[in-house]
Amino acid sequence: MALSQRGVRATSSIQRVTAYLSKMQALAQDPDALDLTFGNPHEMALPGLTGAMREQLEPRSVDWYAYKSSERPAQEAVAAGLRVELGLDFEPDDIAMTQGAFGAIELALALVADAGDEVIIPVPGWFCYEPMLHAANLAPVPAALDPTDFSLDIEAIERAITARTRIVIVNSPSNPTGRVFPKATWDELAVVLERASRTHGRRIWLLSDEPYRRIRFDGIGFASPVGSYPWSMIDYSYGKVLLAPGQRVGYLALSPLLPAAERAELRQAFMPIQLAIGWGFPDALMQYSVPALENVSIDIAELTRKRDTLYGALSAAGYTLTRPEGTFYLWGTAPGGDADAYCDALAERGIHLMPGSIFERPRHFRVSLTATMETIERALPDLVAAAHPR
Ligand SMILES: Cc1ncc(COP(=O)(O)O)c(C=O)c1O
Repeated sequence: MALSQRGVRATSSIQRVTAYLSKMQALAQDPDALDLTFGNPHEMALPGLTGAMREQLEPRSVDWYAYKSSERPAQEAVAAGLRVELGLDFEPDDIAMTQGAFGAIELALALVADAGDEVIIPVPGWFCYEPMLHAANLAPVPAALDPTDFSLDIEAIERAITARTRIVIVNSPSNPTGRVFPKATWDELAVVLERASRTHGRRIWLLSDEPYRRIRFDGIGFASPVGSYPWSMIDYSYGKVLLAPGQRVGYLALSPLLPAAERAELRQAFMPIQLAIGWGFPDALMQYSVPALENVSIDIAELTRKRDTLYGALSAAGYTLTRPEGTFYLWGTAPGGDADAYCDALAERGIHLMPGSIFERPRHFRVSLTATMETIERALPDLVAAAHPR
């Protein structure tokens, strides 16, 4: 057999998603399909994004497109933005520029975890944590979110911790549920992680996966756990707020509360580890664009209108839904309780939602609000009619 064991584990843990992805790619040929599945763009790219890239495209020096590690102006823009957003004293050296959140997560794993270490992940949660952990020779350990309101279940995390736990991954605003967790949750989690680290004589790290941080509704506030627990890092991507996940840029940021010796050690490790994992830096053009992109965003008011339209009509029709506080997803319980059957039946009518089985929650479904308002409005009558299966 050619494939490595970790390759086998990574492949099998993402098989359901890759199969679904190919099915959906075939569907892209159908101009009448109403696609509410992945968080992909359905409208032309933001002028703020294309303008920023156009501005940087023409070389200004011979080394414009030379090998680039983390570019200083990008690190400075990120640190300044984080200081304002999170009220913590980030410095440019705390920031490693990466290929989106994917790259930042991979870097975090390489920085603090060793082969065989356990990493706790939320369920339901993003479907790529598991294959990424397998590919890094790490063991994913699921910890369920609260089954009724999908808040973070700290006791479930505590029960999942063992002597081999090295990282706990949290995600707020959360994919697929749209929940945003308050500071009180992080303070509580910090107590548990501190206690467990002492009990097992080994530091447990917290990785806060925050690519949806700037996509929140109704003025709801945001607290990052890096303000509650020093041994923590943020991974971020511009792919969501710009709705351009094909232009890869993001970062890993160390908590400014990290003790000085560890902060210095990790800062110095950024460059060699990023090189070692396969030149894990964003392309030059995207890094040059970061300062201009810091304040560019998809239209949150329009996203709110889409959320309100769908949430309002489906709730009124009798669906049980989690009201999204952030992200561009709507999460609900499938009428009849079998989301695969529910999604298949809608697919026959040309409406495509993501079944919760992709997130190990086969009774639920996810709708992407990145679809156009026109798509949403065309899908609504059938979605409403499907509320009460015969
Ligand atoms: C929760 C979560 N984390 C990380 C990522 C990766 O983001 P990117 O592809 O922009 O690196 C995604 C993308 O869907 C996500 O939903």
